[in-house]
Amino acid sequence: MGTAPYDGGVIGRNHPYYPFLAAMLEAAHLAKGIHAYYLEKGFTHGTKSGPTDLVTQADHESEEAIKDLLLSHFPEAGFLGEEGGSEGGKALRFIVDPLDGTVNYAHGFPFYGVSIALEVEGKIQVGVVLDTSRDEAFYAVRGEGAFLNGRPIRVTKRKELLGSLLATGFPYDVAKDPENLTYFHRALSQGLLVRRPGAAALDLVYVAAGRLEGFWEVKLNPWDVAAGWLIVEEAGGKVTDLEGRPYRLGHRYIVATNGEIHEALIQTLLGR
Ligand code: IPD
Ligand code: CA
Ligand code: CA
Repeated sequence: MGTAPYDGGVIGRNHPYYPFLAAMLEAAHLAKGIHAYYLEKGFTHGTKSGPTDLVTQADHESEEAIKDLLLSHFPEAGFLGEEGGSEGGKALRFIVDPLDGTVNYAHGFPFYGVSIALEVEGKIQVGVVLDTSRDEAFYAVRGEGAFLNGRPIRVTKRKELLGSLLATGFPYDVAKDPENLTYFHRALSQGLLVRRPGAAALDLVYVAAGRLEGFWEVKLNPWDVAAGWLIVEEAGGKVTDLEGRPYRLGHRYIVATNGEIHEALIQTLLGR
């Protein structure tokens, strides 16, 4: 361990979760190498749920590399990965999206990364999201704050929804499940500034880092949000469902903001 440029030392090496954070950062950097390798070499891709839901060699190989590394350090842990599914127990488990933003990646659009969370007894305790094209490592350990490449990050203090920068995303089967088109339309019709960057894990950590005031999406999976959720909260932000109730993994709706605009954003999305 310890080959990653930001090895989590800011958390304190005696912290019980330090070994996990260090290994998760190392695993994320392994994925970075694999993402870069296949971009350079070229890759084949297949499809999953539909013609636009892509999966590449980089998705599969990064997940294998992350799993091998983490389970070699923590053989007692379970693992939930987007590509390989679930194995092992749930008391202590890693939740991994090996390449979030695959469509961006496949087009050479540099907004994608890897998301790795550690869940202990049903609660996320450590989150790492690495933007593998920019080498920006966002991470948090519960109760210890959030960091970007070793420096603390905070959400913005902006109070007005109008003029806030927001992001959202859409499921691949948006034609079958168009609910978010309604929210998107409402937000744009109110003159709100909304982006659709295409990598939910990065959208979340951009809220944490104060680059966005808010993000919402419908129908994300646990691997998309597990790490970013903790990072937003540790950066002082708020993460709920669409009714303002505390977010739970697997919930259909997620709204993550700087806290200040939270209620106003929910009201706008719901058309109230
Ligand atoms: C997708 C991205 C995208 C979101 C989709 C996700 P993937 O993940 O996070 O931003 O809108 O809902 O499925 O397929 O690139 O890992
Ligand atoms: Ca994803
Ligand atoms: Ca993915």
